[in-house]
Amino acid sequence: MIVVLMMASGAAWESDAFARLDGAGGIVVLKRCVDVDDLLATATSGQADVALVGLEAPGLDPSAMAHLRRYAVRPVAVTTSAVDDLDVRELAERLGVTALVAADDLEGLAEVVSTVEDVGDTRVRGGDDEAAAPRDEAADPHRVVAVWGPSGAPGRTTAAVTIAAELARRGSPAVLVDADPYGGGVAQQLGILDEVSGLLSAARLAGAGQLGERFVSTTRAVGERLTVVTGLPRADRWIEVRATHVESILDRGRELGDVVVDTGFSLEDDPGADFGARPTRNAMTLSVLAAADEIVVVGAADPVGLSRLARGLVDLRDVTGGAPVRVLVNRMRPSLGWSEREIAGMVEGFSRVSGLHFLPEDRAATDRALVAGTSLPEGGDGPLLRALAGVVDAVFPASVAPGPASRRRIPRSVRLRR
Ligand SMILES: Nc1ncnc2c1ncn2[C@@H]1O[C@H](COP(=O)(O)OP(=O)(O)OP(=O)(O)O)[C@@H](O)[C@H]1O
Ligand SMILES: [Mg+2]
Repeated sequence: MIVVLMMASGAAWESDAFARLDGAGGIVVLKRCVDVDDLLATATSGQADVALVGLEAPGLDPSAMAHLRRYAVRPVAVTTSAVDDLDVRELAERLGVTALVAADDLEGLAEVVSTVEDVGDTRVRGGDDEAAAPRDEAADPHRVVAVWGPSGAPGRTTAAVTIAAELARRGSPAVLVDADPYGGGVAQQLGILDEVSGLLSAARLAGAGQLGERFVSTTRAVGERLTVVTGLPRADRWIEVRATHVESILDRGRELGDVVVDTGFSLEDDPGADFGARPTRNAMTLSVLAAADEIVVVGAADPVGLSRLARGLVDLRDVTGGAPVRVLVNRMRPSLGWSEREIAGMVEGFSRVSGLHFLPEDRAATDRALVAGTSLPEGGDGPLLRALAGVVDAVFPASVAPGPASRRRIPRSVRLRR
């Protein structure tokens, strides 16, 4: 049985195609999707084998096609122009479409749908399967680590920036991506002042199918080994970034080094959607969490922060692909009156975590870094940096230099070249 998704964007061929497929033996049309976002969201369920798409449908770009392939959905495109038209050929090629049918000649459609071959780097289907599928570590040694945390500014950006900067300081290439749909803070924390948003530029290139060659042009180098994709300049511009763009950015980033991603706080999916699956604000965060090899969750140590952390750990279970979760309890201080043991008991009651770290309140260090527009490792040793260096040891064990003295010897003041 071949399960088909259709996405005609209201083109006239839709009913003809539907009648031909639905009546054919061995084919079932699962859904007539209203637009590309609906198609991609439905493909994620992992039930479909083939997507019958309008070649000229708005929003059908190479990153959308990559998403289909990721879920093992084989594309068949219908064009309203002549199939041998040069522009049509070029568009099909750019999208990686190998099966192309003319809208006014759908007679052989069922046959094409039944026989279309897998193309490109087809991966396993289904979110869960995908996460469970072993990655070829030899071919792709770099990891994607998502830094997430509930609302209330628990310190996600501080943690993400420090982890990436510390990794780079140790000599491992690191790529820091600001994917917070509520407005990025990475550029500001690192003193990167230009107006150009790496995320928006990269999303535009991903949409045009040009991210492969031009990814580096969307990044900023901070020192020799830290590459930064800055975030949204204004929170309302989240609408320009699709989940598939973010997936492409992570794939490209991973070619350069280990990827650390700052995300938004909300895990809510599609709060105000009318029908189908419109792009949603939190799609960025959700796609990063689904793609991550490990998730670092940051919670604040005060009573409000801890209850949000507990809730967050429960909510997180439904949106990850099964990646290990490591918890950082931030801004620990004696005046709160509870011990690490008490907090550990609470966290373990809500989630099975792969590690738990306590980060001290260290306002002097964070203020110094914020005012200077530098990362914590650039500002020299301190209790917060030491605790976060312990997180880097655990998340990236290969970055720990052999030898007894090496890893803790953080120079008092290292200024990375910008
Ligand atoms: N351990 C700490 N000690 C003192 N201050 C801290 C600590 N961690 C973070 N901060 C400060 O708390 C504030 C919020 O941190 P940060 O911006 O990293 O949080 P966030 O979770 O990314 O917030 P947002 O929701 O705004 O993205 C910043 O001023 C930061 O310097
Ligand atoms: Mg932040």
